[in-house]
Amino acid sequence: MFSTNFLTLALILSNVLLASKALVIRRDGNNTEYIPRFKGFTFDATIIHKNNKQGPNNDSLLTITNESNMVYTAKVNVGGHDFTVVVDTGSSDLWVSSGQSMKITDNTDTHVNLTYGIGSAYGNIAYASVSFGGYEVQNQAFVHAAKTTDLDGEGILGLGFIGLSEIERQVKTKKAQSIMSNLFTQHPSTPMFIGLALERSASGEDTSGGVFSVGEYDPRFANVSGTSKHPVTPSSSSRWTLAMSRMTVNGKDHTLKSDVEGTQKGQAISLIDSGTSLAYISSDAVDAIYGAIEGSVHVKTKDQDSWYVPCMSQANLSFTFGSDTYPVNPMELTTPVTITDNGKQYTVCLNSFRTPLNGKQADMDFLLGDIFMRNVYSVFNYGNSTTSGDDSKSASIQLLSRTNRDQVYQDFAGLRKQSLKTYPALFDLTKLKSDGTTSDGAHVDPQL
Ligand SMILES: *[C@@H]1O[C@H](CO)[C@@H](O)[C@H](O)[C@H]1NC(C)=O
Ligand SMILES: *[C@@H]1O[C@H](CO)[C@@H](O)[C@H](O)[C@H]1NC(C)=O
Ligand SMILES: *[C@@H]1O[C@H](CO)[C@@H](O)[C@H](O)[C@H]1NC(C)=O
Ligand SMILES: *[C@@H]1O[C@H](CO)[C@@H](O)[C@H](O)[C@H]1NC(C)=O
Ligand SMILES: *[C@@H]1O[C@H](CO)[C@@H](O)[C@H](O)[C@H]1NC(C)=O
Ligand SMILES: *[C@@H]1O[C@H](CO)[C@@H](O)[C@H](O)[C@H]1NC(C)=O
Ligand SMILES: *[C@@H]1O[C@H](CO)[C@@H](O)[C@H](O)[C@H]1NC(C)=O
Repeated sequence: MFSTNFLTLALILSNVLLASKALVIRRDGNNTEYIPRFKGFTFDATIIHKNNKQGPNNDSLLTITNESNMVYTAKVNVGGHDFTVVVDTGSSDLWVSSGQSMKITDNTDTHVNLTYGIGSAYGNIAYASVSFGGYEVQNQAFVHAAKTTDLDGEGILGLGFIGLSEIERQVKTKKAQSIMSNLFTQHPSTPMFIGLALERSASGEDTSGGVFSVGEYDPRFANVSGTSKHPVTPSSSSRWTLAMSRMTVNGKDHTLKSDVEGTQKGQAISLIDSGTSLAYISSDAVDAIYGAIEGSVHVKTKDQDSWYVPCMSQANLSFTFGSDTYPVNPMELTTPVTITDNGKQYTVCLNSFRTPLNGKQADMDFLLGDIFMRNVYSVFNYGNSTTSGDDSKSASIQLLSRTNRDQVYQDFAGLRKQSLKTYPALFDLTKLKSDGTTSDGAHVDPQL
């Protein structure tokens, strides 16, 4: 989820919104509404006890589960109560819902409204012990949210820098540190990084939990330690942003542009955000990806800017940071969605890399959510930012590619075919025109 606490515009559509709103096909002025399918609202967060090879911190891995197919959540204990919270590198505050009996060490009258790309959480700032992954953090500031809008779930665990923290901005003293800052201060021997492995289900189409670790690498991806440390860019950034140096579609480079001041020519500032399901990139970049897929239809009207893509088609997409290239599994490029046309259900595949709906952020060009993060094992190095009070200075991200380009290219058709079996028949895209109408008079209109 990406936090908007500095900025006033910046509304970014999330997959949650896509899923909670209907896709509608309008025919002759009559509306047929489609109730979207949600996949797997299962919560099953447990701490994985690794075998005791790695010393005292061997229980600092915990499982992240899929709240739906869209968000990765983990169980975090706040004031003696377990909450299932979104693991979010895109924001820097912790909030949990109120109404539970909790041991609060300090309650304040200071109220804060945390706002995200979508939704907000409002409540007073309080302090309690927080524990997760075998670590306990004392006197952690959090928002005890009495009221939320457009946010489901029990809370969000913001893993970003203090500079983005709304709580810190209100309290203005060292007392209100972000969670990772406090954790590393209170556990000084813990190496100052976290690792995130976001998993995909066997079908390839869905998420299925993941692993979050503090101060140690997931043993499956220990090789990440030898990968380049991509510096957080710009160095003044209050977010986990990197400079993307290349974006390639089917072997062709797409020219990158940046609106972020001071960015080197040909680069784009990209947020690595576990709290966002999809990705939001510039419209020229979106068009470069989906325009490369034969048979895809760009529907651009005053209400929508979407690509309808043949579900069985793929493109080779990769992003480069520094000199390391990370391929994206073609499964992540499109999302099957059911629509209803004249009382009959069909399936269309929509672009998962999207344009931001309501304008752009000033401090980033691209927002790469889970559909990118599932292709890598990612390590977020806090540098000395947390103890010095500086923001991202000396912070970096290491990425170990988990996507084998040849393998995923080969696997795509079989996996996609399998998952489409649970969906209605494919909609015939040759009937669809760029104004959203179809050749037999219907009107395709996702109400986002
Ligand atoms: C419009 O939809 C309503 C309710 O679904 C249905 O009863 C009616 O027959 C439809 N009208 C036309 C012209 O399709
Ligand atoms: C490490 O994990 C093993 C197996 O779960 C456990 O028996 C052992 O007590 C743990 N060691 C420490 C120091 O936590
Ligand atoms: C918090 O801010 C959001 C966005 O500005 C607004 O929609 C919401 O009503 C606010 N909530 C409260 C309780 O003030
Ligand atoms: C979500 O997680 C549960 C438990 O791990 C799993 O059974 C389910 O299949 C997952 N759902 C999806 C959509 O991945
Ligand atoms: C890790 O790196 C070593 C040495 O470079 C290599 O032999 C090994 O295959 C790598 N393991 C994985 C899982 O990538
Ligand atoms: C995409 O990548 C695969 C596997 O590396 C390759 O076989 C295929 O030719 C590529 N397609 C295009 C259009 O570049
Ligand atoms: C910590 O950050 C400062 C800049 O704020 C830098 O000058 C210093 O070298 C860093 N120290 C370490 C150990 O990384």
